[in-house]
Amino acid sequence: MKTFYITTPIYYPSGKYHIGSAYTTCLCDSVKKYKQLQNYDARFLTGNDEHGQKMAEAASDNGRTPQEHVDYMAKLSKELWSTLKIDYDDFIRTTEERHESVVEKIFEKLLANDDIYLGEYSGHYCLSCEAYFTETQLLEGNICPDCGRETKILKEETYFLRLSKYSDRLLKYIEDNPDFIFPESRKNEVVQFVKSGLNDLSVSRTAFDWGVKVKSNPKHVIYVWIDALSNYITSLGYGSSKDDLFQKYWMNGDEVVHVVGKDILRFHAIYWPIMLMALDLPIKFRLFAHGWYMMKDGKMSKSKGNVIYPEQLVEAYGLDAFRYYIVRELSYGHDGEFTPEDYIKRINTDLVNDYANLVSRTISMVNKYFDGTVKNAKHDHDYKKFELELEETSKHIFEQYQQAMDEFKMAEALSEISALVKRTNKLIDDTFPWDLAKDDSKKDVLESVMYHLLESIRLITILYQPFLLETTPKVFEGLNVGEGLRVFTSYKFGEKSVYQVVKKLPHLFPRLDVEKESEKIKVMMESNKPKEEEKRVFDMKSEIEYDDFSKLDLIVGHIDDAKAHPNADKLLVFDVNTGDKVRTIVSGIAKFYKPEDLKNTNVMVVVNLKPVKLRGILSEGMILSAEDKDGNLKVIELNNELEPGDKIS
Ligand code: MSP
Repeated sequence: MKTFYITTPIYYPSGKYHIGSAYTTCLCDSVKKYKQLQNYDARFLTGNDEHGQKMAEAASDNGRTPQEHVDYMAKLSKELWSTLKIDYDDFIRTTEERHESVVEKIFEKLLANDDIYLGEYSGHYCLSCEAYFTETQLLEGNICPDCGRETKILKEETYFLRLSKYSDRLLKYIEDNPDFIFPESRKNEVVQFVKSGLNDLSVSRTAFDWGVKVKSNPKHVIYVWIDALSNYITSLGYGSSKDDLFQKYWMNGDEVVHVVGKDILRFHAIYWPIMLMALDLPIKFRLFAHGWYMMKDGKMSKSKGNVIYPEQLVEAYGLDAFRYYIVRELSYGHDGEFTPEDYIKRINTDLVNDYANLVSRTISMVNKYFDGTVKNAKHDHDYKKFELELEETSKHIFEQYQQAMDEFKMAEALSEISALVKRTNKLIDDTFPWDLAKDDSKKDVLESVMYHLLESIRLITILYQPFLLETTPKVFEGLNVGEGLRVFTSYKFGEKSVYQVVKKLPHLFPRLDVEKESEKIKVMMESNKPKEEEKRVFDMKSEIEYDDFSKLDLIVGHIDDAKAHPNADKLLVFDVNTGDKVRTIVSGIAKFYKPEDLKNTNVMVVVNLKPVKLRGILSEGMILSAEDKDGNLKVIELNNELEPGDKIS
C-alpha cells in the first residue's frame, strides 16, 4: 500500500477558530478520505502552535497562565474538530514533551554542525509590530512602514540559522522538482524572494521565556517558527527512540503534502526545506499554498461583527452543508469571499435542487413504477442513446474529478460532480418516465432508465464521499448499496445488478429561504461582536514621574489644509495652525483618512518633538491619534470652541 501523509499548519490558539482555519482542516480531511478511496495508507496531522510571546499575551489577556490557556484552547480545538468530524490521526501540541525534547535536540544538532551560530542582531525594531525592519524598508525618519510609528534601534544577542549557505541548493531543488510548490504563482513568488538574497535568520529570542529553551544556553528561547515547523516530523517520532512512523511516512513514504495559507508560504517553502537540508533529511513534502476566506469588508474581525464560527453554521444547516460549502467556494489558490447569501444559495442550488432532488425523485419513481425493485435490463430501445451518453459522461467526469483532486482543485472536483448530477437529472427530462409508465409495452425501457438513474446516483455518491460525510451513507443505505460498491474500483455502470430501494428517504437537505436565512446568518455574525463592556488590554509601559509628562508641549492645533505626500502612499501632509505659527506636520495615517477628511478640525499636537524629515518633507510636530482593536488609527478630534495654541495638560 502506498503511503500519503497530509498536514495542516498547527494553529495559534489565541482565540476561537473561525471558518478560515476550518477551511484548511476540512480540505485536508477530505483529501485524506479521497486518498483512502484510492487505497492509500493515509495519515493526517493537525495540532496547535502553543509557544511564543503572542500566546503568553493572549493567556494573560484572559487571566490565565500560558499553560492553562493552551490546555483550555486545545480542548476547544479538539471539540471543534470533533463537531466537524475531522478524522486526524495525530494532534500535536508544541508544549508536549515528545515535541519539546526533540526541538531541543534539533537546535543543538544544527548548532553542532555550525548551521546555527551565535551572533548579535542590531536593527530598527518596531515595538508595536514586534518586528525588525531593514533600512530600505523604513520610511524616512526611521518610521515603521507598517504602522507609521517610530522604530528604535535594538541590539540583542541571538542565534542565526545560515539560510544564505543553502539558498543555491534550495533554488536547485525547486528547479529540479517543478511540482514542489503549487500553485505555480506561489512557486514564482518564492523563487523571486530567494533570488533577491537570503539573510541569515534570527532563530532565538531573549525577551520572553514562553517557549523551548536552548539547551546549551537557556537564556535563549527557540524562535517559534523553528519550534513549529519541526512538528511535522516530531509527531512522527523523529529524533526519539520510537521513530517507526517517521521511517514509514517520511523517510520511506510515497507522498507528503503540507497544506498552508498564502501568508505562511515563505516559512514552509524556504525555512523548512533549509532546516531539513541542514538536518541531512530529505525534503519529502510538496507544498500547497491556498488563498484566504475574506469578508465583504475585508479580513474577518470580531469587532467588525463579520466573524462567523463553524459551529454556528453546522448547528443551523448541518455538517455536510458546511463541509461542502467551505471547500467548494474558494477557487484554486485564490482568495474568496464568504457571504451569507452565497452560503444559502450554494446549498440550495447544488445540494437541494440538484442532488437531493435527484435522489428523492428517483426513489419515488422506482417505488411507484416497480415497487422498489429494479434490475439491470440490458437491451436496446429508443432511449439507449441517452443512457449511453450518461455512461460516457460519468466515465469522463470520474477522470476529471480525480485529476482535480490530485491537484488540490477541490472546487473543480465538486463542480465536476455537480455536472454529473445535472446530466443525470437530464436523463429524466430526455425520457419522460411518466409517459413510459402509461404504456405497458415500454416497461422494460422504463426499467432501464430507472436502473441508469440509480447507478448514476451510486457513482455520484461515491464521488461525494470525501465531502458529504453524513449524507452519502444515508443514500447508500436507501439504495441498498453494500460496502464493496461504495469504492472507486466499483465506479462503473452495471456493477450493481439489482436495486431494492427504501420506500422513502428522509429529507437530505431541506430547501432554504435565501432572504430569511441570510438574515439569520447576519444576526449570528453580529452576535459574535465583543460586548461593549469587554475588557481592553494594552501594554502598560513602566511608570513615569509628572516631570516626564510635563516635558511634552501639547497644544490645540487647527488643520488649515491637508494633502497627500508626493513621495509616500502612507503619509499625509498637514498645515496646522498651532497659534504660534502654521506648522507642516507629516503623519502616517493615509490608510485611514483622505486629506480632506480632517480639514478644519481641531486636533492635539505635540509641538516640541524634534523635527524630522519624512520622505523629503520636514515634519514639525505630531498629531495624536488613538488606535482601535483592529489597529485602525483615529485622530483625536477636539471641541471646535478651543483655539489654536490652547495648552493641553
Ligand atoms: N502557527 C502558525 C503556523 C505554523 S505551521 C508550522 C500560524 N497559525 S495561524 O493560526 O495564524 O494560521 C493558521 C492557518 O490558518 C494559516 O495557514 C492561515 O493562512 C490560515 N488562515 C487564517 N485565516 C484564514 C482565512 N480567513 N482563510 C483561510 N485561511 C486562513 O500561522
